[in-house]
Amino acid sequence: QQLKLSLEQIEKGGYEHFMLKEIFEQPKSIHDTMRGRLLVGEGIIKMAGIWDHIEKFKNANRIIIIACGTSWHAGLIGEYLIEEYGRIPVEVEYASEFRYRNPIITDRDVVIAISQSGETADTMAALKLAKEKGAFIYGICNVVDSSIARITDAGSYTHAGPEIGVASTKAFTAQLTILTLIAFKLGKHNGNLGNADFMSLIAELDAIPKKVEDVLSSTHEQIQEIAKDFVNATNFLYLGRGYNYPAALEGALKLKEISYIHAEGYPAAEMKHGPIALIDENMPIVIIAPKKGHYDKIVSNVQEIKARKGKVIAVVNKGDRQVSEMADYVIEIPETSECFSPIVASVPLQLLAYYIAVYRGANVDQPRNLAKSVTVE
Ligand code: G6P
Repeated sequence: QQLKLSLEQIEKGGYEHFMLKEIFEQPKSIHDTMRGRLLVGEGIIKMAGIWDHIEKFKNANRIIIIACGTSWHAGLIGEYLIEEYGRIPVEVEYASEFRYRNPIITDRDVVIAISQSGETADTMAALKLAKEKGAFIYGICNVVDSSIARITDAGSYTHAGPEIGVASTKAFTAQLTILTLIAFKLGKHNGNLGNADFMSLIAELDAIPKKVEDVLSSTHEQIQEIAKDFVNATNFLYLGRGYNYPAALEGALKLKEISYIHAEGYPAAEMKHGPIALIDENMPIVIIAPKKGHYDKIVSNVQEIKARKGKVIAVVNKGDRQVSEMADYVIEIPETSECFSPIVASVPLQLLAYYIAVYRGANVDQPRNLAKSVTVE
């Protein structure tokens, strides 16, 4: 028993939980995902899985991304990325819905499955269906040689390293990194992303691990303080727009999974179509409001929330004034292009969920009723 305990402690590398270790590993795991692929000096993104089948992508009618859970949230961000930079239509589907609704799939479709474990039963079944119908199937998996990785025609591993905590953290940011690389590569190849823009975007991507490291060190202590104030919360709302709408969904999912507090993510502009009815002094609202990306609209959302006495926890860029003056709590992240902001903004939301759950005494690494890989439908 004692030996087992100390082995586990060694594996946790001095952190109290695997989840915290994995959150802190992100500067490295994002870097590992880019290693050998992003060659900034040469101005190249090297991805054999894409390059060997570039005609399939180029001639695709559309790309369909299928996934579950956190991987599905990464897929939503992938849609924004691939449509903006690659200019190929993208649809994102829950694997479980896709497989049971007799979807229209042709041999001109490219289906991308995203799965940390590579074993999720619904994702696997949806892929098999797409394959039968003649689609080209591509995998983005973390676990090497997993079932999904084996049945796909091609793919890219995320190389985030083993993820033990049931709630996904570093695998998510690695998935976003791969999707960013794919979007930029497709955009460069089909001429939608000019050379100057491509060069500046990849240089910025290369700097993301450092920005994630800065966020971890600058927000870690502050978030522990914020978390203490919300230990007894019963509900949470997470809002974001554009690229940060899926980041809001993911922030809410993290909190739900490990703290058992009910949390909902919403596109900020949809607040007026429902969630606004819930806002009062007992409703904490996490709002992702970086400078780039509909900032002015978010400012008015915050005004509407404050008029109803909601408690605002704002994730803003360093030096922000307008939202910060209204917010009850301000978490600062460095400025990035909009397309990278979900990576940077997700990190403090992971920490917030983690500390709220820890202070509630929850089993963070193995939350009740959840499994790391869901091999049943
Ligand atoms: C489970 C896990 C989640 C994960 C989801 C999809 O629900 O608890 O963390 O996002 O499955 O898993 P996959 O391995 O396919 O990414």
